[in-house]
Amino acid sequence: MSHTREILVTSALPYANGPIHLGHLLEYIQTDIWVRFQKMRGHQCTYVCADDAHGTAIMLKAEQQGITPEQLIEQVNADHQRDFAGFLVNFDNYHSTHSAENKALSEHIYKACRDSGHIATRSITQAYDPEKQLFLADRFIKGTCPRCKAEDQYGDNCENCSATYSPMELINPRSAISGATPVEKESTHFFFKLPDFQDFLKEWTRSGTLQPQIANKLAEWLDAGLQEWDISRDAPYFGFEIPDEPGKYFYVWLDAPIGYLASFKNLCERRSDLDFDYYWKKDSTAEVYHFIGKDIINFHALFWPSMLTCADFRTPSAVFAHGFVTVDGKKCRSRVAPSSRPRPIWSI
Ligand code: 2FM
Ligand code: ZN
Repeated sequence: MSHTREILVTSALPYANGPIHLGHLLEYIQTDIWVRFQKMRGHQCTYVCADDAHGTAIMLKAEQQGITPEQLIEQVNADHQRDFAGFLVNFDNYHSTHSAENKALSEHIYKACRDSGHIATRSITQAYDPEKQLFLADRFIKGTCPRCKAEDQYGDNCENCSATYSPMELINPRSAISGATPVEKESTHFFFKLPDFQDFLKEWTRSGTLQPQIANKLAEWLDAGLQEWDISRDAPYFGFEIPDEPGKYFYVWLDAPIGYLASFKNLCERRSDLDFDYYWKKDSTAEVYHFIGKDIINFHALFWPSMLTCADFRTPSAVFAHGFVTVDGKKCRSRVAPSSRPRPIWSI
């Protein structure tokens, strides 16, 4: 059967540090239904996904279990694929961001950004765990809320009184990993110069790529002025080392969306009817759609189209963002691991 449209579809890549839960599944099932519909219409529709395998949370979880991060992500990948198959989620390819394709593509995109002047370098001060010898993201620091004095609050906001603050403002801050008192330490970081893409993004976010509600939310950020985005993390970190910068790694969110490209590339290598370059070249007539939750819209509708443009790839045709459904009027949150980003769970 000849097809009329060429469509590439993705769902958000689940972290490789915990099992698939209801909040995940609804997104994949929603996407799967859309993909089946397009296939039934006779279009060439390809659905790819992958595990999001990098970052501190995965590194620490592997350490806790006494295995290597590579072993952990391999086990979790098998569990994820088993669970998706159990729910008949029919990916055309399920890959990993810890792959040769993703490394090559991440380096390529980074170098394109760097060589065109869109990467800045400067020293920043961060909380550091002197015992574990590790820089601490806000969520790895706990202490007493400086406002309401609630104990055991995370480093960036208080779940009791909703105050937001910097981790060093906590009373008795401590590392959630070792219990040590964090110290402040400087290091050089790399930043993607998002403000360079302000005009492009104003245009792109209003060009039919996003639901109007999402475009309105983004307009608030765009009007307020964009910030440079910190894309580097110091060793020890489980990820890809930044080219020409020993000891510096790509932040997991830099290579995560590139995992969409990598999974598709991996599939193209064994499917003669799919051409990676044709789908991803600038102004391609193929279509690309990302299904995501609204909590990660900034990554998909600000950083991602800017990085793609910078590297001369096409941008997504649309990003479909779903909201949070509530349980008894409350947004339900689950931490798949104590250290992972909270993920909203839906109810139906
Ligand atoms: O929020 C999350 O669960 C991320 N792992 C989603 C990544 S989506 C894509 F950008 F890789
Ligand atoms: Zn508080």
